[in-house]
Amino acid sequence: MTLLLVQIGRNMKKIVCETYEDVCNHAADIYVRQLKEKPETVLGLATGSTPVGLYKELVRRYKSGEIDFSNAQSFNLDEYYPIDPSHSQSYDYFMRKHLFDYINIGKFQIPNGSAEDANAECARYEAELDAAGGIDLMLLGIGVNGHIGFNEPSVSYSLETHHINLTESSIAANSRFFNSDEHQPTTALTMGIGQIFKSKKIILLITGEAKVDIAKKLFDGKIHTDIPACLLLLHPDVTVILDKAANGG
Ligand code: PGA
Repeated sequence: MTLLLVQIGRNMKKIVCETYEDVCNHAADIYVRQLKEKPETVLGLATGSTPVGLYKELVRRYKSGEIDFSNAQSFNLDEYYPIDPSHSQSYDYFMRKHLFDYINIGKFQIPNGSAEDANAECARYEAELDAAGGIDLMLLGIGVNGHIGFNEPSVSYSLETHHINLTESSIAANSRFFNSDEHQPTTALTMGIGQIFKSKKIILLITGEAKVDIAKKLFDGKIHTDIPACLLLLHPDVTVILDKAANGG
């Protein structure tokens, strides 16, 4: 159930839903519409706990014949580096486990966490994105520190896909996924702010109590330049979908 729809600034829409399931349903409706309108959509996809329910809902809708991904292709935002794609914590593994193993997507790409040369892999990925014409519909989550993809808070932001050192905050936030005997990567390959901004439409999902503070900052009427997600206030078509918990009730 949608509780509230607010326009933030000129271009950002804020939609507050009652529950996490409502957020996932609302977002899934956007995918159904998008793929009907443009079957050959280029999707930008995210990992993390936030989109898991959306992916589950998309799989359900695919199985019921409501959505068809066969002409679509996707690019994921980021991947740990170095990591083997077969590692249970790689984003490659995550995407197969939650989505790609169950739908008929034409083609999907994820930065290669086991590439020998990280910078060459970033350049290759950026070229693939450009060759596909950029992203039509970009899905984003947000870190508690405001990161989007792995564009971490900084005084400057890279436009293109790049190799980045993760902040202590991101390493700590994701440590819950790694067993104590597993090596947790401290760097990643991520799409840059430029490629995210070239996306025609962006959906940002913010769910759960842990995101209350960062959501407040995003909507306080200022562009905090040390919060990468705030840059989205300048994009022409962003829809932020929150649950009540992330909206502070
Ligand atoms: P989360 O991660 O969905 O696991 O909270 C989001 C992010 O870091 O972008």
